[in-house]
Amino acid sequence: MRTTTGWQAGGDPVVLHRTALERRDLRADDIAVRVDYCGVCHTDLHALNGHSPDRPPLVPGHEFTGVVTETGPAVTRFRPGDPVAVGNIVDSCGSCPPCRAGQENFCREYPTLTYQGTDRHDGSTTLGGYSREYVVRDAFAYPLPAGLDPAGAAPLLCAGITVWEPLRALGVGPGTRIAVAGLGGLGHLAVKLAVALGAEVTVLTRSAEKTNDALQLGAKDVVVSTDPEQVAAARDRFEVVLDTIAVAHELKPYLGMVAMDGTLSMVGYLGPVTVEAMDLLIGRKKFGSAGSGGRPATAELLDFCADHGVTADVEILPSARVGEALDRLGRGDVRYRFVLDLSDLS
Ligand SMILES: NC(=O)c1ccc[n+]([C@@H]2O[C@H](COP(=O)([O-])OP(=O)(O)OC[C@H]3O[C@@H](n4cnc5c(N)ncnc54)[C@H](OP(=O)(O)O)[C@@H]3O)[C@@H](O)[C@H]2O)c1
Ligand SMILES: [Zn+2]
Ligand SMILES: [Zn+2]
Repeated sequence: MRTTTGWQAGGDPVVLHRTALERRDLRADDIAVRVDYCGVCHTDLHALNGHSPDRPPLVPGHEFTGVVTETGPAVTRFRPGDPVAVGNIVDSCGSCPPCRAGQENFCREYPTLTYQGTDRHDGSTTLGGYSREYVVRDAFAYPLPAGLDPAGAAPLLCAGITVWEPLRALGVGPGTRIAVAGLGGLGHLAVKLAVALGAEVTVLTRSAEKTNDALQLGAKDVVVSTDPEQVAAARDRFEVVLDTIAVAHELKPYLGMVAMDGTLSMVGYLGPVTVEAMDLLIGRKKFGSAGSGGRPATAELLDFCADHGVTADVEILPSARVGEALDRLGRGDVRYRFVLDLSDLS
């Protein structure tokens, strides 16, 4: 085993403590990564809020960039010194139909998550990127394209890919009228990516004060979702509504804004939902979801972002201020992603 330092959940109420962590010795196809920047995803906050002492150890963090420091003997894709990025999946079975199709995120045996996943070889609980070093199978690390700022690129690996796959699967491109609901970490990247794909983007937000930001990000219009008149005026307007809202909410107003044969794709809140069949029937509408991304789509996203100059709008904090980042994220006080700078850890 090798040791590093990271931020692990503990105590009551649960907070993150700076702790020595063990990483496995490199297997033949592993690389060791010095983690430089790790995004603070709302999923990290959900995980911390749901954490208790009887749960497996929790070190959050599943969108990070850094530098390769060591490679196992079978690794050919990376060398020490290479800039690299890792997302929220670090392994999968590799042989089921989704894995063979490059959709490791839908692995029938469930992909190994970057934190609180179960390692497929030794059964240990994976510990995430709020730490100075991560050891990962090389197949689940991505070369970070030149020209992408490593701090701004870190959120592409979860927030970015989670919105990218549905954007691509739903054929969003030139002329598509799409609405993005919830202007947060996922939402602001969805706006940037949809704009870069050529779509006509509207932001649906509770927060009228985000209007200028939405327009700056490239949106053409904003609908304030708490204003029934604005919502009614947007009826049947969008071919795609991509819903990134982090909490349970009524779907009816969002389905109402979907155009005939269009889709509401809900990627933010992943709990149980109620859908009225009539809200789908009228207009032959579709309701779906998605999450994370396969290896080919992730590589495609990074290339697309390098070509189009897309990175997240980030506020970088030293990792020692992780508590403040999580607190402000919980209060919606973020424009639009916190990224931890891990260089304060040894
Ligand atoms: N499917 C996946 O694989 C996947 C991957 C990553 C994250 N997620 C989930 O996606 C969600 C969003 O994550 P994020 O990191 O983008 O979070 P975030 O930065 O906090 O953004 C969430 C946005 O949701 C809206 N919102 C928050 N509270 C709300 C409330 N009470 N009522 C209505 N709207 C509210 C806000 O937008 P406005 O202020 O504009 O209204 C907020 O900016 C989280 O639930 C996260 O767990 C899913
Ligand atoms: Zn995430
Ligand atoms: Zn599989």
